[in-house]
Amino acid sequence: MNKITKQLCSFAIAALISCLLAIACTPTSNNTNTTTPNNSPTSNQTPIPIGIAVAQTSNVSLLGQEQVTGAKIAETYFNQQGGINGTPIRLIFQDTAGDEQGTINAFNTLISQDKVVGIVGPTLSQQAFSADPIAERAGVPVIAPSNTAKGIPQIGKYISRVSAPVAVVAPNAIEAALKINPQIKKVAVFYAQNDAFSKSETGTFQETVKQKGLDLATIQTFQTTDTDFQSQVTNTINIKPDLIIISGLSADGGNLVKQLRELGYKGLIIGGNGLNTSNILPVCKALCDGIIIAQAYSPELKNEINTTFRQIYTEQNKKEPPQFSAQAFTGVQVFVEALRTLDKKTKLNTLTLPQLRTQLNDTLLTGKYVTPLGEISFTPEGEIQQKQFFVAQIKMEADGNSGKFTFIQ
Ligand code: ALA
Repeated sequence: MNKITKQLCSFAIAALISCLLAIACTPTSNNTNTTTPNNSPTSNQTPIPIGIAVAQTSNVSLLGQEQVTGAKIAETYFNQQGGINGTPIRLIFQDTAGDEQGTINAFNTLISQDKVVGIVGPTLSQQAFSADPIAERAGVPVIAPSNTAKGIPQIGKYISRVSAPVAVVAPNAIEAALKINPQIKKVAVFYAQNDAFSKSETGTFQETVKQKGLDLATIQTFQTTDTDFQSQVTNTINIKPDLIIISGLSADGGNLVKQLRELGYKGLIIGGNGLNTSNILPVCKALCDGIIIAQAYSPELKNEINTTFRQIYTEQNKKEPPQFSAQAFTGVQVFVEALRTLDKKTKLNTLTLPQLRTQLNDTLLTGKYVTPLGEISFTPEGEIQQKQFFVAQIKMEADGNSGKFTFIQ
């Protein structure tokens, strides 16, 4: 081989080697599939995990099921909008069931095993007072989707809520009852004494009754596990109240309404936030008719996101969205929008998990959100600031099997 041929040969070999190296080192393209026509993020990015810890089983699932529906709609909706600036979110559900221990277990699993950035949950204030301190100690942001008892955001700096408290919501129901019947004088109050929210809500109801100059004629207690209310109902009917106000949960509340009507009570009934679900309709059936319940959400609220949420929910469920679904959607929305804001400031994948959780909490507390609940924001303590509230009354069909919440205010 002459010198020139040798040189050409070594060029050819070098070119071949660099060509092979180039092929080996070129990453496979991530770009071909980055967006679907919906502008969805790619599935080959690791999604950002958000925990959902609500009651998927037990009697409390009458409320929790509605929360699951709202959260799932949010997951699909926000991922179709591009997730967190191109990275999808993934909701991780851990069932709390109806008690404190189940909630503590669900929180521990989400925090340590599932490594979520934040938690939407739990369903009950009673559960929150036990489980939220765990998240607080671990530095994990919690957005309460339905805890309305006094004192929830005060559990700690990582705890906020999108569920307006009893003090703000409950008095609206009494005002609505007085509009329907201005003759109301004598009021009976029932509450579940084993439930933190019910105790808190009855406090607000009782104060409002007194402030309105009404006669708080009797205070009756029960347990959320009770099914027989005969003695309390008989005592109350003997007093002849014009209005009965119930603070309890769904199954007990529905049964109590049923027994009040069966034993002859004909006046107005106000149900608190624990009765705020169409899942009580199979419990009290035709006898649910007329229950007045204050609302922190109306399907009629006019803004783009509520119109979309209402449309998706109605298509899926063939009924109007309830408050518990709208609040769970909102809880996920707050995390999504805060994550987007934070990611624009500091790329999320440059933060450690503890840094991400802390900065997410700081970011979410300072944001303003246009949600199905209307425009909301938080106090520095994590209390929701919400503008509009409503009141609904249950209207049952003649067959006693189906009914709906009719907005009266
Ligand atoms: N609002 C109810 C509670 O806080 C469900 O427990």
